[in-house]
Amino acid sequence: MTLAGQVALVTGSSRGIGRAVASAFAAKGSSVVVNSRSDRSGGEALVEEIIGRGGRAVYHQADVSVAADVETLFDKIENDLGPVDVLVNNAGRTESMAFADATPEHWENMLGTNLMSTVLCSKRAEVSMHGRAGTIINTSSVRGFDANGREAILAYSAAKAAVNNFTRTLAKQLSPRIRVNAVAPGFVATSYMDRVSEEQKQQWLDLIPLQRFITPDEIASVYIFLAEAAFLTGTIVNADAGFTLGRG
Ligand SMILES: NC(=O)c1ccc[n+]([C@@H]2O[C@H](COP(=O)([O-])OP(=O)(O)OC[C@H]3O[C@@H](n4cnc5c(N)ncnc54)[C@H](OP(=O)(O)O)[C@@H]3O)[C@@H](O)[C@H]2O)c1
Repeated sequence: MTLAGQVALVTGSSRGIGRAVASAFAAKGSSVVVNSRSDRSGGEALVEEIIGRGGRAVYHQADVSVAADVETLFDKIENDLGPVDVLVNNAGRTESMAFADATPEHWENMLGTNLMSTVLCSKRAEVSMHGRAGTIINTSSVRGFDANGREAILAYSAAKAAVNNFTRTLAKQLSPRIRVNAVAPGFVATSYMDRVSEEQKQQWLDLIPLQRFITPDEIASVYIFLAEAAFLTGTIVNADAGFTLGRG
C-alpha cells in the first residue's frame, strides 16, 4: 500500500513516539494530522517542521478520550483534507499508582486515555473509511502482555491488554476492507526518561536482552511497516529489544 497522498491521523503526536510516527508518514508523502490534548506548541512546531521539509500537515487539538472531541476532530479533517485513510491510535499515558491507592478516577483516566481513545477514534475512522480501504494501527505496550504489568501500573497494563484484544477482534470484524494491527513497544526513549534516575535506567537495561532503549524513529518504522504491509491484519508487533523474552 502506498502512503503517498493518504490522509493519516496520528493521535497524541505533539511529542514522543507519535511525533516520530507523524514525521515518518509525512516523509512518505501522506497528509498528516498532528494532534494533542493540551500541548499545542509541540504540535504546531511539528507541523511547521514538516511543511518546512516540503510535506503536508495540519494540527488539531482534541482530547481523543472524549467522544464529542473525536467527532469534531474527524469532521474538521474530512472538511479540510477529505476522509481518513490511516488512523494511528497513539495517544496514551502512564501513571503509577499502587492497587490499594488507585481510585475509580485513576482507573477511569487510564482506561479513558489508553483504551477508550482507541475505541472512539477507530469507531469514527470506520465511518470515515466507509466503502474504501483503510488501516488502523493501535499502540499497545509490553505491559499489555501476560504478567508483564507491574503493580504500580496495573490500570495502564489492563488498558493495554484490552487494546491487544480489541485490535484482534476488530481486525476480524473490519476485514477485508480495513486492516487493524498494533505495535507493543518496549522501553522507548521519550520525555519520561528525562525524569528517571540513571540507577532506574540501569535497572531497566538489566531486564532487556539487547541492553538498549529504542529510539522514537526506530519504533516509527514499525508503524510504517504495518501501514504498508497489505498482507497483515490482527498482528501485534512486539517491538521491545527482547524485553518480553526475559533474562537469565
Ligand atoms: N515511551 C515508551 O517507552 C512506551 C512504551 C510502551 C508504550 N508506549 C505508548 O506509546 C504511546 C506514546 O507514548 P510516549 O512515550 O510517546 O508519550 P508522550 O511523550 O507522553 O506523548 C504522549 C502524546 O499523547 C498526547 N495525549 C495524551 N493524552 C491525550 C488525549 N487524551 N488526547 C489527545 N492527545 C493526548 C500528548 O499530548 P498532551 O500532553 O497535550 O496530552 C502527547 O502528544 C502511548 O500510548 C504509550 O502508552 C510508550
